[in-house]
Amino acid sequence: MSERHLLVLDAGTTSTRAMLYAPGGERVATAQAPLSQYYPRPGWVEHDADEIWARTLDCARQIVDQAGGADRIAAIGITNQRETVVAWDRRNGRPLARAIVWQDRRTASQCAQLRASGHEPMIQQRTGLIVDPYFSATKMRWLIDHVPQVAEAGRNLAFGTVESWLMWKLTGGMHVSDASNASRTQLMALADARWDADLCALFGVPQQALAEIVDNAGPFGFSQKALLGGAIALCGLAGDQQAATIGQGCLASGAVKATLGTGAFILASTGEALPLSRNRLLGTLLCQIGGHRHYALEGSIFVAGSLIQWLRDQLGLIAAAADTDAIARSVPDNGGVYLLPALSGLGAPHWRPEVTGSISGLTHGVGRAHVVRAALESIVHQVHDLATAFAADGVAWRILRIDGGMSANDWIAQDMADMLALPVERPADVETTARGAAMLAGVGAGMFATLAEAMAMVPGRDRFDPALPDEARDRRLAGWHRLIAQGVRADP
Ligand code: G3P
Repeated sequence: MSERHLLVLDAGTTSTRAMLYAPGGERVATAQAPLSQYYPRPGWVEHDADEIWARTLDCARQIVDQAGGADRIAAIGITNQRETVVAWDRRNGRPLARAIVWQDRRTASQCAQLRASGHEPMIQQRTGLIVDPYFSATKMRWLIDHVPQVAEAGRNLAFGTVESWLMWKLTGGMHVSDASNASRTQLMALADARWDADLCALFGVPQQALAEIVDNAGPFGFSQKALLGGAIALCGLAGDQQAATIGQGCLASGAVKATLGTGAFILASTGEALPLSRNRLLGTLLCQIGGHRHYALEGSIFVAGSLIQWLRDQLGLIAAAADTDAIARSVPDNGGVYLLPALSGLGAPHWRPEVTGSISGLTHGVGRAHVVRAALESIVHQVHDLATAFAADGVAWRILRIDGGMSANDWIAQDMADMLALPVERPADVETTARGAAMLAGVGAGMFATLAEAMAMVPGRDRFDPALPDEARDRRLAGWHRLIAQGVRADP
């Protein structure tokens, strides 16, 4: 390799990866390790922060070796599962508790109280976020209230989302959080990307435990020499969904992407305009470079790829996720089966953390393929509900760009086009999250003068055009809306 490359660390919900990119955009190496999931009680989801770090370091070392050593790497970009909270001790960098994962619903009653006390409009106006256990603030408070080591740490307590944790470990003590990740804590004022003292007081989170908010492109510092065989500049940081939006080239106002990962996250850029939804979507920070901010409107679906994982691991209905394409095609339709995939409650636009999943329409004629097909359809149906909410907020989609592991499924890509009645585009490389982080690192390292210039790394796309008659689409949506209405009514 003659030119220096970009190393991306992508710390996701179910696995951690490291990837190597050539400045021209080619992904030349990938290492991956699964992450243990802990479900100590119904609705609780935890990670071991030490394991996140160990897996990330291990993957990074493999890639640095493949690159030919640390001096072959121009810069590191980090991207991560958002909202997940790590609490650690500043004196020794040791976690004080298991990390509480974004999917965790344990603070639902705290959120219900905040809503009942009338705080939601102010919180939404300042942060862009509605009140839900999804976000970090109530998780931080829960840790202070329930874990003695966290409460007793006092001024030595450090809170961070996963990029903060990795930055601390890589640098040996730098406590930073990028503006896109900080915007998901529910403690950051969206308009100026600063911690909001009123919100910290309302949620009961000590501001001194929080990181310094920084841009998405650095340079921020260097990795400790001993870790990767040399000091490498840390130049890009972003939450995974914001990174995927950048990696899809969706910076222009109105451009929209859907990442089908563990969950499905749809972000439409609003450019420099501050987003405020009237239809239960989220306003979020897309990226900040040189203090200059871009925003996005977001719809967050909590269950997408994790539903397929559940079909495989809990029900044993499929042997591998990739089989779902052929299984869905093996039947002409869903046979009347509809699935409500509320395995972690319902996210946007319903925001009902207590709702549980269900399968309806079971008869003797229903087989495994119908249930698998209904599961895939349920992901598309949720995306359809978000399309309606975005349109009501004045951001109608013209083309949807999809990415993430599940987007490789041609059946789902075509079904998405059919049900949305819109062209759907899919990049040649569906790993746009890591690509976006590589682009930010490239900007931070000075390989590109601007993010617009870094768009040279965005690959070509395949296109799926809608082909389903309106009547068939309407029939399916009617079945879905019946199920949603029942689910939401049944769990007050
Ligand atoms: O907000 C949660 C999101 O960042 C998780 O992403 O890719 O792990 O589903 P993913």
